Amino acid sequence: MKSIIPAAGLGTRFLPATKCSPKELLPVLDKPVIQYVVEEALEPEGVTGVVIVNSHEKPQIEQYFAEDPEFEDMLRSRGKEELANKVHEASALPVSFVYQDDPKGLGHAVYCAASEMDGDPFFVLLGDYFVPDRQMCVNMAKVSAAHNDASVIAVAPVPADQVSRYGIIAGECVESLPGTNAQGEEEGAVWKVTGLVEKPSPEEAPSHLFIVGRYLLSPRIMDLLATQGTGAGGEIQLTDAMERLLEEEEMYALVVDPDQGCDTGTPAAWAATNARMALANEDQAGAFKEALGKGVSVG
Ligand code: G1P
Repeated sequence: MKSIIPAAGLGTRFLPATKCSPKELLPVLDKPVIQYVVEEALEPEGVTGVVIVNSHEKPQIEQYFAEDPEFEDMLRSRGKEELANKVHEASALPVSFVYQDDPKGLGHAVYCAASEMDGDPFFVLLGDYFVPDRQMCVNMAKVSAAHNDASVIAVAPVPADQVSRYGIIAGECVESLPGTNAQGEEEGAVWKVTGLVEKPSPEEAPSHLFIVGRYLLSPRIMDLLATQGTGAGGEIQLTDAMERLLEEEEMYALVVDPDQGCDTGTPAAWAATNARMALANEDQAGAFKEALGKGVSVG
């Protein structure tokens, strides 16, 4: 079983930084964002590899995950064993690449990896968000196992005025935690999905639960993506193919706390993620607080 990470986007939100360096390689502390996502993608039991959907405009991503024994030897010869090991770690990850040179939407990006899935179910992880404890996909796999290996997506509540930015589900709560309110929107609740709409207006939105960017999908979705037409924004939407999948198969949604994960999709969110990760890192927290204290008052 494999995981797919779409990474062919232009990174326009980070221009000019992304003019010659892909947004996926922006660092969070000392590792590029995409390495956190790859490590998260490999966490669920049974996942043996990650397929990154890249564009030929961004060869640096492939270079980052490629072996470079000469560079490692040079570091080792200078006594930098620990750094050489860190460099090696990235190249030892089971990562392969397919290419999407025409950005036709998320559904199209996922379909570009179809030939690599061996007809198995697969995860999709959107790459501008990562979950440090890597448990979100693991929990989704548990929900799938409890429901005949059905497709499962992570969802979370969103204010009504923001529904048009996301994919929104329709459905009914089938498992809620004892002692919590009856909305079924608390973390850990499971919904049976009955509909999906990409970027609805607040009036059209069938619920307040948005798709967070973690999917465990039935292989059948690839057949549907093969014939999927364009939808919202003129793009081939994964959400639209999932809506068609519902006619044939069951699908569930696990309510998650999106703040378990770190957003790196905008400069402000990326900066905050660096701060959060620095404060959580015992080697960096002291130096970070000291550096932040210089000329900054947060409040
Ligand atoms: C994509 C998906 C959307 C999902 C969102 C999460 O949208 O199409 O359903 O809610 O990611 O970030 P995008 O952000 O690519 O517009």
